[in-house]
Formats: sequence, C-alpha cells, structure tokens
Amino acid sequence: MAEFILPQNSKVKKGKTVTLPQKAGNTKKFIVYRYDPATDENPTFDTFEIDLDECGPMVLDALIEIKSTTDPSLSFRRSCREGICGSCSFNINGVNGLACTQSINDLKGDVRVFPLPHMKVVKDLVVDMSDFYDQYAAVEPWLKTNSSQPEGKERHQTKEQQEKIDQPSACILCACCSTSCPSYWWNGDKFLGPAALLAAYRWLQDSRDEATDERLKELNDSAKLYRCHTIMNCSFACPKDLNPGQAIAEIKRMIATRDL
Ligand code: SF4
Ligand code: SF4
Ligand code: FES
Repeated sequence: MAEFILPQNSKVKKGKTVTLPQKAGNTKKFIVYRYDPATDENPTFDTFEIDLDECGPMVLDALIEIKSTTDPSLSFRRSCREGICGSCSFNINGVNGLACTQSINDLKGDVRVFPLPHMKVVKDLVVDMSDFYDQYAAVEPWLKTNSSQPEGKERHQTKEQQEKIDQPSACILCACCSTSCPSYWWNGDKFLGPAALLAAYRWLQDSRDEATDERLKELNDSAKLYRCHTIMNCSFACPKDLNPGQAIAEIKRMIATRDL
C-alpha cells in the first residue's frame, strides 16, 4: 500500500548508515528516505556519507554518487540536470525544490532528502504524479478558438500580449508548489492546486484564446478554485520564481468582475 508522507514523518525509522571506507576531509551526511511499498512494511531513512571533493556541487550529484558507488537500488527521477524538466523535485531539508539546482554548500549540516510531501510513494524518492497530471489536463491547457485562422498567417500577438504569458508559461510542472500547499494536502482530490491553476491562468491571459468565459465558469467552483486560502506557500516554493498564488488571486478577481 502506497504511503502518504510528510517531510518530518515520525513513522520513518532509521535504516542503514554507510560511511566512507577512508577518512576524507570534506564530508557530508545525506539522510535519504527509503521505501518500497511492494516489500517494506514501513519507510526508513538511510544515511550516506559523501566525500564532497569527489562529488559534483548539487544535491542531485550526491544522489547520483550514492546510486553509482554505494547503493544502486536507490530510486529517484532526474533528466535534464538544468532545472528545466522538473523531474528531480524533492523535499530537501524541509523545503521543496529541485535537487539539480540546489547547491550542497548552501545547506547547513546534514542533508535530508525526502519525497514531495503528501504524495503517494512509488519507491524511495519517486512519487506518483498521476493525480497532479490529471489536474493539469483538467484545465485544458491548449489554445481554444471559435474564429477561423487568419488567412496565410499565424495568430499574432503584440510584444505586450506575449509578455503577459511569459512567466506562467515557464512552469516546469515540478509540483513543488502544489505539494507545499496545505489545502492541496488535505483536498488534493477536489482542489486543482496551484500548478494546474497557474496553467489555467496562462490560457486566461493569452490574447489569442477565445474561451475565457468558458474557462472561468469551469473554474468557478468551491473546491476546484476556492480551496485556495492565499497562504502563498506555493509562490515561496516555486524554484522558477513564478507566482501561482498571485495567479489564483487574479483568477478569482476575473470571476468576480465578469458577468459569467
Ligand atoms: S496561495 Fe496558499 S492555499 Fe492557495 S494554492 Fe498557494 S499555497 Fe495553496
Ligand atoms: S509553478 Fe513553479 S513550483 Fe509550481 S509546478 Fe510550476 S515550476 Fe513547479
Ligand atoms: S533534473 Fe531536470 S529539473 Fe532537475
């Protein structure tokens, strides 16, 4: 049975500790969440000592070092190593972020790497993103038009119109925002969450889209939208410096000021 987790879950017991065979001068301990729902009764955390002189500078480098030199069974997602793909989002020392852009030197003391909070764990640091992607799909994140395409050309935007969608288009769907939102933790089956709502906002702001009222009517729902209580954890958590909390407030304002 998959486990829902909080960053500091007291049910997580100490697992194995792996120290370096030789004394190294520049070491750090990485405390990593381990859980295989297929075989483990409870999650544990393992402690791995890393020689920072032999490892790259980011938390993802340390996880790759552990997997390639010490424990190949450690599971985590990663792809781009550049903060672009959104795969390596974890809870690092209690804060959601991307392991590939989180410098080890910026973290004081031991480094705790846990899965994103309140997600079902598939294995170790890999969480089930199915609901998150369903919520994204639910806002129909594509251009909707009724008018016919201008003959022989694309649907153009001015520079100012394009700039309005610049920021929300930069979302990498890492889920750091949604999984730091208390409303999403407790109502994730009904509340769309900040990432999906930011995507909805991106299309509401697109000058070429012709489904604004239809989109707003769909969002005007006590659970889908109004479970957001403007706590703003989401905006603080975003590793791309986006502002889903403000986007949600703007959607609410649009609904309040339009005759739907
Ligand atoms: S503003 Fe707060 S309640 Fe609303 S989505 Fe962000 S974290 Fe959740
Ligand atoms: S808004 Fe930011 S934190 Fe949320 S999914 Fe997009 S990039 Fe990640
Ligand atoms: S590996 Fe792609 S964002 Fe970290």
